[in-house]
Amino acid sequence: MKIEENYSLEKHNTFHLNVKTRWFMEYSTEEELSRILHDEYVSSFEKVHIGAGSNLLFLNDYSGVVLHSAIKGIDVDKENDKYVFLRVGAGVVWDDLVAYAVDKGLGGIENLSLIPGEVGAAAIQNIGAYGAEIKDVIESVEAFEIATGNKRIFTLDECAYGYRSSIFKKELVDKYIVTYLTIRLSKEPQFSIDYKDLKEELSKYSIVNLSSVRQAVIDVRTRKLPDTEVLGNAGSFFMNPTISENHYESLKNEYPLIPSYALPDGRVKIPAAWLIEQCGFKGKAYGQAAVYEHQALVLVNLGGAVGSEIALLAEAIRETVAQRFGIQIEPEVKYIG
Ligand code: EPU
Repeated sequence: MKIEENYSLEKHNTFHLNVKTRWFMEYSTEEELSRILHDEYVSSFEKVHIGAGSNLLFLNDYSGVVLHSAIKGIDVDKENDKYVFLRVGAGVVWDDLVAYAVDKGLGGIENLSLIPGEVGAAAIQNIGAYGAEIKDVIESVEAFEIATGNKRIFTLDECAYGYRSSIFKKELVDKYIVTYLTIRLSKEPQFSIDYKDLKEELSKYSIVNLSSVRQAVIDVRTRKLPDTEVLGNAGSFFMNPTISENHYESLKNEYPLIPSYALPDGRVKIPAAWLIEQCGFKGKAYGQAAVYEHQALVLVNLGGAVGSEIALLAEAIRETVAQRFGIQIEPEVKYIG
């Protein structure tokens, strides 16, 4: 177990904000986590659990305990003619798991290549890209209750997944720590390649297989999204909002080019990036915080920004979008402090 006091989180958040935490505790096994959760001294502090910090905005130094999982391991749990079931530690780097699956010829997560972050947080957020979501392969999620230290296994249904959402972000927010996932991957991959950007990129390849899909996704992402090592960011800062059909029709009268996706429940999803770009924010800098020039949904740290500077820019964007379009956009990024 690694325990540090007054520890810099600069390398633990992809905005690269220079904040400190009173305590940082990194455990490598469920037993170590259980010991931390049963410790009286630790229980007197506020706690937050992080993954790779690729979806976090620290507003201040943190006066509590930051927990991080170093539970590793990708193991075959069982298999049949069609599927392999992998049990994966929450501290595994997400893209290492995708690379492993593609290398072993297992399909289901190749569209989720190069998404930053670790496996536990991926399951909590229901990461998604290019028409795929992690929920499509999840069998079960193992987690520890913070208050009691008891372990519980959640079935797929119990996780209550939705767009960038799960029970761990709603009813049970900050109540459980994910330790392992079991995912179901296919020995006979079926490809989902209808997403426009991916389809275009794949047309450069002579064959559609796990490797070409992974490489195409990597190339699209690399082109469109800033490298966190070069320009601190947390991917999409906001979620794409949904609006009623009536609201959509009235906006379409005024903005005939508004992009949209019809949802099965009759509502309409609008790309937040388009709303933000229409409001003139794309490529604009406010102090050391800015809106990325190639993707308006991404806020970046130009260097030395503080969390509140990024939060202020986000608030200005939310207010402008709300005033102009009557649409409330919500951060995907979690604010801490
Ligand atoms: N668009 C603009 N301006 C921009 C960028 C996009 O108007 O600067 C419009 C275009 O009409 C474009 C549409 O927005 O067709 C959608 O853009 P894009 O395909 O880039 O996807 P997105 O909706 O902005 C979502 C996810 C991304 C994911 C991509 C690809 C969310 C919040 N974001 O972005 O996820 O990689 O689709 O599937 O759902 C993340 O969550 O961190 C993330 C990067």
